[in-house]
Amino acid sequence: MTEARGIKLVLFGPPGAGKGTQAQLLKERLGIEHVSSGDLFRHHLSNGTELGELARGYMNRGELVPDQVTIGMVIDRIGQISDAQGFMLDGFPRNAAQAEALETALRERGQAIDKVVHIQVDDGELIRRLSNRYICRACQRPYARDAETGVPPAKCADCPDGGDIYQRDDDTEEAVANRLSIYHQETAPVLEFYRQRGLLADIPGEQTIDAVHHAVLRILDAAHAATVSKS
Ligand code: AP5
Ligand code: MG
Ligand code: ZN
Repeated sequence: MTEARGIKLVLFGPPGAGKGTQAQLLKERLGIEHVSSGDLFRHHLSNGTELGELARGYMNRGELVPDQVTIGMVIDRIGQISDAQGFMLDGFPRNAAQAEALETALRERGQAIDKVVHIQVDDGELIRRLSNRYICRACQRPYARDAETGVPPAKCADCPDGGDIYQRDDDTEEAVANRLSIYHQETAPVLEFYRQRGLLADIPGEQTIDAVHHAVLRILDAAHAATVSKS
């Protein structure tokens, strides 16, 4: 049984790797808070806030929203979560400045990231997944078109009144190409930052959703065992 209460996790990987999908499963199973920078931005967008309006253009083009906006938004959100509950970050950090800012903010609270799980998927498969991806407008849970019929689900299975399912504005061919290119240039180098700190675990992401989930659980078990043996 995975004991993950209080764990501070980063789910790392390219657009379409399955970060949101895995976060949903981990949240259901372990009750740790899911903090997705993309979901936070989309929440601002749908509420028409100033921050959402600022982020819209960057997101639709598949570019990173500037650090001055992103870092504060995510650090504030993490600050609302108790140390005992723990969290998993999805889509943050995405460049060196964000990784440094996160480390500093956590250190000031006597906290640190426990593990970084890197879900590895090739670009061709990512493009296929993103062109088939639909999400729930209410809870942002990702879905895919049915493999045989090509039909997306009509309603969200998790939302009581069945939230609407839609395609993200940044899942266009052009924006996806941009997101992948920015991932390789700016985000993938952050892996080295965590590798140097001994926090990185790689998982092959081109397996079933369930197989990836179990691989993540094994990593969390090992991380927990290491913490217990140190204390
Ligand atoms: P964000 O929302 O973070 O998007 P992303 O990183 O591009 O990642 P995705 O949400 O597209 O992919 P995912 O890994 O969550 O995959 P999913 O589980 O949905 O960011 C959006 C934008 O916001 C950015 O471009 C940027 O503008 C801005 N932003 C966000 N964070 C920022 C930051 N830190 N700094 C600056 N700007 C920021 O799965 C994809 C599909 O694949 C689904 O259909 C799913 O059902 C399917 N699938 C999942 N796993 C599998 C599997 N194992 N096998 C087959 N299919 C699978
Ligand atoms: Mg996502
Ligand atoms: Zn939903």
